Amino acid sequence: MGLLSRKVTCNSHGQDSSYFLGWQEYEKNPYHEVNNPQGIIQMGLAENQLSFDLPESWLAKNADAAGFKRDGQSIFKELALFQDYHGLPAFKKALVDFMAEIRGNKVTFDPNHIVLTAGATSANETLMFCLAEQGDAFLLPTPYYPGFDRDLKWRTGVEIVPIQCTSSNRFQITAPALEEAYQQAQRKNLRVKGVLVTNPSNPLGTTMRRDELDLLINFITDKEIHLISDEIYSGTVFSSPGFVSIMEVLKDRSLEQTPVWERVHIVYSLSKDLGLPGFRVGAIYSNDPIVVAAATKMSSFGLVSSQTQYLLSAMLSDKKFTKEYMAKNHKRLQKQQSKLVSGLEKAGIGCLESNAGLFCWVDMRHLLSSNTFEAEMELWKRIVYDVKLNISPGSSCHCSEPGWFRVCFANISEDTLKLAMQRLKSFVDSVAINNQSHQELKNSRKKFRTKWVFRLSFQSFHDREQDER
Ligand SMILES: Cc1ncc(COP(=O)(O)O)c(C=O)c1O
Repeated sequence: MGLLSRKVTCNSHGQDSSYFLGWQEYEKNPYHEVNNPQGIIQMGLAENQLSFDLPESWLAKNADAAGFKRDGQSIFKELALFQDYHGLPAFKKALVDFMAEIRGNKVTFDPNHIVLTAGATSANETLMFCLAEQGDAFLLPTPYYPGFDRDLKWRTGVEIVPIQCTSSNRFQITAPALEEAYQQAQRKNLRVKGVLVTNPSNPLGTTMRRDELDLLINFITDKEIHLISDEIYSGTVFSSPGFVSIMEVLKDRSLEQTPVWERVHIVYSLSKDLGLPGFRVGAIYSNDPIVVAAATKMSSFGLVSSQTQYLLSAMLSDKKFTKEYMAKNHKRLQKQQSKLVSGLEKAGIGCLESNAGLFCWVDMRHLLSSNTFEAEMELWKRIVYDVKLNISPGSSCHCSEPGWFRVCFANISEDTLKLAMQRLKSFVDSVAINNQSHQELKNSRKKFRTKWVFRLSFQSFHDREQDER
């Protein structure tokens, strides 16, 4: 132990959060419709498994890309040897065009401003290394993606200070909440280097409003700090209101020639929008050439393999495919999300109205035994161990109010979702029956106690009367 680094022995990785513990429980007893129908259903994993058939059928039709060929000739050797950390130009071009397409081509992106990374995980950490020193702070609105504790803090030593958002305004960011977080950081002697938001939000499943984005730009302008917009779910918006990228706001406000232009950075990845988390394809987009140069050098520690880049540059350049994929994928996501919402409704559970992401932000406050995080954990354990659904408690997302849970819907089939909702409904019904019998028991005890108290007082009254006589 003594010979190991502090990084190895400290627990700021966040692996002990209930978010990861739930996954471990699932791994021990995973649901399978035939082999393990009583197992735990995984609803704590933000994966999109609804549209695999689309890239698969594209691969079947594009033998050159899948077989590492160009015009029928093998390029195996070329790909095996390619290791330039600037990335394949064709892939960078295809990726920025795809990012523009997702944003309705209202903004364009320059391939020279993009840095390829092994997923958004690596992109976020790299940005921390570029923008902050150990002990500096980034402000993050709550609830936030539990992985940020690992990605932003663990190896960099950067601190996260929460911007407390609440259900009273659908967890939107407000000016007082931003200012309070900034002041809190200062009280802790932390230098604030920026704000990091996820738009669309994980775990809320909502897109940020234009006025929220304007507020953020005003705040970072005023405080002279950075803004990172993690837009990993930008192509996973399936109903209105549509997605507005931070880049669109900068352009609309003609801020290209101002210092703030170079202080806004976008994080992107194909893990969610194309459902390819295993391919490890992420990116940083920045208007600051120094950040781009430094991040490019750092990307040596987490490059995207050249065969992945080659394959995806062909896929993303096929505009017919990307258009069809987006349209079909959105339809499927919307259908599955509404199945979750109606299933929850049948169980008497509401959730935040959402239009994006692979999850819903579910309100189970009425099922808590008390308005505390202990009660939230108690409920979470019953849902994981008794109901056998792995969902993520709000506390793992640093939510400031107990009783909210993130429930994922796109990593399971329609039938599994149906079963999950049946399990949840039976649980809620049993809680209601228990509460009812508990109440009846309480009422009958009260009646008994009233009689007893009455008798007692009657008795003492009687005794007193006897005495007085
Ligand atoms: C907001 C957010 N950022 C980053 C990541 C990490 O993504 P990747 O698989 O591309 O590393 C996730 C994954 O869930 C996420 O939700």
